Amino acid sequence: MERIFIGVAWPYANGSLHLGTLAGALLPGDIFGRYHRMKGNEVLMVSGSDEHGTPITITAEKEGVEPKEIADKYHEEHKRNLDELGIKFENFSRTSNEFHKKVVKDFLVKLYDNGYIYPKKVQSFYCEKCKRFLPDRYVEGVCIHCGGRARGDQCEECGRTLDVDEIKEPKCKICGSIPFLKETEHLFFKLSYFEEKLMEWLKDKNYWRDNVINFTINFIKSGLKDRAITRDLEWGVEVPIEGYENKRIYVWFEAVIGYLHASMEWAEKTGKKDEWKKWWVEEAKHYYFLAKDNIPFHTIIWPSMLMAHGGLNLPYDVPANEYLTLSGEQFSKSRGVGIWIPDILKNFNADAVRYYLSINMPEKRDTDWKWEDFMAKVNNELVAIYGNFIHRVLTFSYKNFRKIPPYLKRSERDSEIIEEVKKNFEEVGECIEKCHFKEGMKKVMRMAQIGNQYINENEPWKLINEDVERCKSVMHTCIKIVKMLAFASAPYMPKTAEKIWRMLGYKDSIHEHRWSEAEEINENEIEKPLPLFRKIEMKEQRDPFSLLDLRVAKIINVEDHPNADKLYIMDVDVGKAGKRRIVAGIKKWYKKEDLTGKKIVLLANLEPAKIRGVESDGMLLAVDKNGEAILLVPNAEEGERVYVDGITPSPPERVSYDEFKNIKIVTKNGLIEYNGKILMDKNGAIKIDHYVEDGYNVR
Ligand code: MF3
Ligand code: ZN
Repeated sequence: MERIFIGVAWPYANGSLHLGTLAGALLPGDIFGRYHRMKGNEVLMVSGSDEHGTPITITAEKEGVEPKEIADKYHEEHKRNLDELGIKFENFSRTSNEFHKKVVKDFLVKLYDNGYIYPKKVQSFYCEKCKRFLPDRYVEGVCIHCGGRARGDQCEECGRTLDVDEIKEPKCKICGSIPFLKETEHLFFKLSYFEEKLMEWLKDKNYWRDNVINFTINFIKSGLKDRAITRDLEWGVEVPIEGYENKRIYVWFEAVIGYLHASMEWAEKTGKKDEWKKWWVEEAKHYYFLAKDNIPFHTIIWPSMLMAHGGLNLPYDVPANEYLTLSGEQFSKSRGVGIWIPDILKNFNADAVRYYLSINMPEKRDTDWKWEDFMAKVNNELVAIYGNFIHRVLTFSYKNFRKIPPYLKRSERDSEIIEEVKKNFEEVGECIEKCHFKEGMKKVMRMAQIGNQYINENEPWKLINEDVERCKSVMHTCIKIVKMLAFASAPYMPKTAEKIWRMLGYKDSIHEHRWSEAEEINENEIEKPLPLFRKIEMKEQRDPFSLLDLRVAKIINVEDHPNADKLYIMDVDVGKAGKRRIVAGIKKWYKKEDLTGKKIVLLANLEPAKIRGVESDGMLLAVDKNGEAILLVPNAEEGERVYVDGITPSPPERVSYDEFKNIKIVTKNGLIEYNGKILMDKNGAIKIDHYVEDGYNVR
């Protein structure tokens, strides 16, 4: 028996969960946890909502509400979604609760007393217009190391955590103005002190994933700097040090302590206050599941904090995943690229989603979510192979015998088949132990394939008339395979496994049973079988708005149309998507020089059309009646998406003008709305060039 601690990265409570978080952290953690519980190991798996930090305050400011309101709303939603997805934690907590704050403060004081925390005066970005310091995500700029997009404290491109002097071309996220550096005092954690100690600790981690160990070692080798662990903010955990009453603890510093707090809280809830020590002080293996942008916090910062604290277990493995992309683009709450869990749960079976993400898990490299592929894998594998085998076996047995038939007439082939299935079954377990989840899932599928092959070879539908005893034996063998399949699927598709368990006549939960019981069989009554999965029809209710490929475009040149006095010909830059030439009827309202340099919203996938002899490849969005005001996106970058919250863009190559026309986008309260949801870019609501009354169409 082993003791296993599983920490799953805490999702920010600033928006709905998306598939990237599920594929990157939640699902692998859950598969691992469920398997180890079934193996009879003692598992403590925790996570919670990460409720502080600037991702939440920025969302709150955009929506004009208090951060607490956002955090409460999404914490509840996360909990509901986790339940629907079958993700099981011993404790899923939150960082805004008092227990968390207390554990964090004690931890910080301990580090302070141990001499690893000291105050220092520093320069920090300050926005004159907003009259405040701009911590973390309030600043955006360019990373000096790789030239990638720097989102305050971290570069999106290279993953480095960034100091103020590592960000070029800074801009205030709220108002877009250029901040200047101003002096302020913060507490610093002596991260630099841990360079050698970390290298020493990493020495025997040759079993880590290549990307994780390489990233970590390179990160340390490039030199560790002491890190500020306080911020000039109001939302967060108070700093338990005199003179710091107006500052808050840096979100990452306190969130990682959540792993410890959630363990202690769990112990307290179960009534055994000291039980957490079994995992944190006594021998236990600590696994952390997260996507790659979280690596440095879990392999460098958190381990250093634990060393500085002393007496607590360090990570044993951090099998971080790469990214799940959506048609090639990175999922991102803040940029509106993604598939949201509440959305997908409305339309699809949670286990079908878990299946596709398992078989397509971004373990060694980024993988892509493709709708057609999702449909194909569910229909051709999950339904046609797995579901079909189980359903065939159970309906045939139910119809003819009502209970699991006995094994009466043996054949050499039966044992061969059972051996082969067993071998795959055992390998499923080995794969999960090594965190090779994708490979494990494939082996589950292989088991079903072997089952189908066996049933086809033996043709029980003939045997039932020719040799009932043999028929019963064949079905007995099939049911053995079904039972092993139920166990093998339990970590991956927990609800499906439970359904199979019920149909096999059991009244309790398969998840309370041991992996080693998979081969035992009795003569249970079979429940009337129901199909496990349905085929997906891809005409699913996708919102027509998702057809639109709306992008930020910068006007670089404007000319008169030679054959029409109301039209301009404009060249626009759509960033990575290249340059375009469009024709627009806005001459009456705009002078050429007022347009050049402006950033507008372009419908980039509209079918090209000749307008008075000039081809227009795309269309800018303006407020109709007469097209008198264009939509402006001054703070976004060309090429970035413009979207509506909660609708996942999945634009086809082209849409026709008629399709576009039927999508009703209107002005309301000075904003642009589709179906009651506002049109936005990553900085928030999209503005119209000047005030326009409500009720106009946008086109
Ligand atoms: N909220 C962070 C993110 O989504 C992850 C925090 S993990 C924790 O990237 F351990 F620090 F909580
Ligand atoms: Zn500002």
